[in-house]
Amino acid sequence: MGRTLIVYHSRSGHTRRVARTLAVRLAADVEEIQIVQPLDGPLGYAMCAIEAIAGLAPALRSTARDPADYDLVLVGTPVWFWSLSSPMRSWLERHPLKGRRFAFFCTMGGSGAARAFTMMKQLAGGKPVATLALTDDEIDAGARAKLDAFVSELRTGPGRRTRRRGHKLAPAVSRAAA
Ligand SMILES: Cc1cc2nc3c(=O)[nH]c(=O)nc-3n(C[C@H](O)[C@H](O)[C@H](O)COP(=O)(O)O)c2cc1C
Repeated sequence: MGRTLIVYHSRSGHTRRVARTLAVRLAADVEEIQIVQPLDGPLGYAMCAIEAIAGLAPALRSTARDPADYDLVLVGTPVWFWSLSSPMRSWLERHPLKGRRFAFFCTMGGSGAARAFTMMKQLAGGKPVATLALTDDEIDAGARAKLDAFVSELRTGPGRRTRRRGHKLAPAVSRAAA
């Protein structure tokens, strides 16, 4: 599969947990996106809301890894108001992935993944080879089947579907609409 980079943003730890699990499974390097102005507490939550709804892109701390050095880039974000998080928006605006092999994952309370992935696709400038959406409850329960299916999809390579004998493709992993 070549060299893999996982780039993610996480405010309260769910996306971090998924990123770290995937990093072990894929032997990937990991880059956590950090914002210059932290968004903690109730005021921070309000800022998250404003930034997500308005499509703002906050300033980021500099990152160490260059996605151009990798064969596959995984981009992970929490869903914020049916959008990607504003820090992940900032990163994607600075690192268009067009022409590269990349995949998306997101975490959420319950809804908004499809819209967030559509936005990420526009920012990335292309189509992800796979996507994974997990709820907080699924993460707490280990999300093993969905993680297995996602990893399998990534290993299979672009343009092919993974089917276990007698089983349909797990619904958590979907090729984004063209
Ligand atoms: C500002 C904000 C907006 C959110 N909006 C949504 C939403 O639209 N849909 C949803 O299902 N969950 C929403 N959530 C819940 C998070 O997506 C969810 O808890 C996620 O796992 C958090 O990831 P993290 O722990 O990595 O920060 C929101 C959380 C925050 C802080």
